Amino acid sequence: MGLKILGTGYYLPEKVVTNADFAKIVETSDEWIVKRTGMKERHIASEPTHVMAEKAARMAVERAGLSPLDIDLILCTTVTSDYITPALACIVQGAIGAKNAAAFDINAACAAFVYALDMANMYLQHGYHHVLIVSAEGLSKITDYTDRSTCVLFGDAAGACVVGKGEGDFQSVLGSDGTGAHTLFARRPLNDIPFVEQADPQSVDHFPDVNRPGVLYMDGREVYKFAVNAMSTALKGACEKDGITPADLDLIIPHQANLRIIQSAAKELGLPLERFYVNIDRYGNTSSACIPVALAELDEQGRLTPGKKVGMVGFGAGLVYGGCVFTL
Ligand code: ACO
Repeated sequence: MGLKILGTGYYLPEKVVTNADFAKIVETSDEWIVKRTGMKERHIASEPTHVMAEKAARMAVERAGLSPLDIDLILCTTVTSDYITPALACIVQGAIGAKNAAAFDINAACAAFVYALDMANMYLQHGYHHVLIVSAEGLSKITDYTDRSTCVLFGDAAGACVVGKGEGDFQSVLGSDGTGAHTLFARRPLNDIPFVEQADPQSVDHFPDVNRPGVLYMDGREVYKFAVNAMSTALKGACEKDGITPADLDLIIPHQANLRIIQSAAKELGLPLERFYVNIDRYGNTSSACIPVALAELDEQGRLTPGKKVGMVGFGAGLVYGGCVFTL
């Protein structure tokens, strides 16, 4: 049993911020950002995360040719929900009038869309019919605009899709390494105590103090190393479970954190870069929204043709990773 993409949607805030704009607020340049990351522009939201989520959700349900009443489960992924509680998924459920849907959120950072797809697949095998996945991120809310090593990387966006049961296969590999949690994290606003009080007293200061509450801290070099390895491990593993090799994949939709990471993963997997969908130049890293926004763009371009083998792979704070393969 597999899953089928029934409809896709996305939303990008109107405001576009270029590399030149960043050069006005921190010591950086268009040349450095393009060369080190592949990014040129990103969208920054003035609207809250739930508004972006709702717009992407509506588009996905409409494009699936369904009514919101046909949706029986909504899974939202975000690290930038507007509220600690309720879940973003409940706000979306109410906003679009999906009265028959259960709703909850998943926090698996930039890998969360793959986690959600994996979860949707399991629910579909157990009686659910139409699962709406919405990944919405307002990363600008947790970006430190005085830190040049992180602020140029992130953008805001929402991506969504409706999935139903399919004929084909679906295989995934999900994993995490919490010993790397201190390399990428954000404290809650107003929280100036150590992020995690661990059982081992020597570990209390595990999380760097340089980070201000409410904004992202990242040890870029450490995350980079993890990312290249996680991308190829997850994708190879999912292919192996499916009885194929990465070379059998027609299309790979990777998390868009850094063009160099995608290039290294392509090399590691022995695949041409053209096999990977890349839109990092236009949107930057929008965390869990990267993959579903790319999926929706591919849908618009008519490239999600039945029978194609698709791979998706993400990684992020946790540290977590997830890869999956399925037939469209
Ligand atoms: N402009 C100019 N110089 C910069 C900038 C900038 N925007 N940012 C950093 N530099 C400088 C550094 O200060 C350093 O200077 P120094 O040598 O004088 O100390 C130099 O550039 C090199 O810094 P590195 O950190 O080694 O640069 P690197 O090539 O590793 O690129 C980057 C940094 C882009 C962050 C990279 O490490 C990376 O992409 N890491 C992975 C990020 C990632 O995958 N994140 C995913 C998760 S994000 C999420 O989950 C929301």
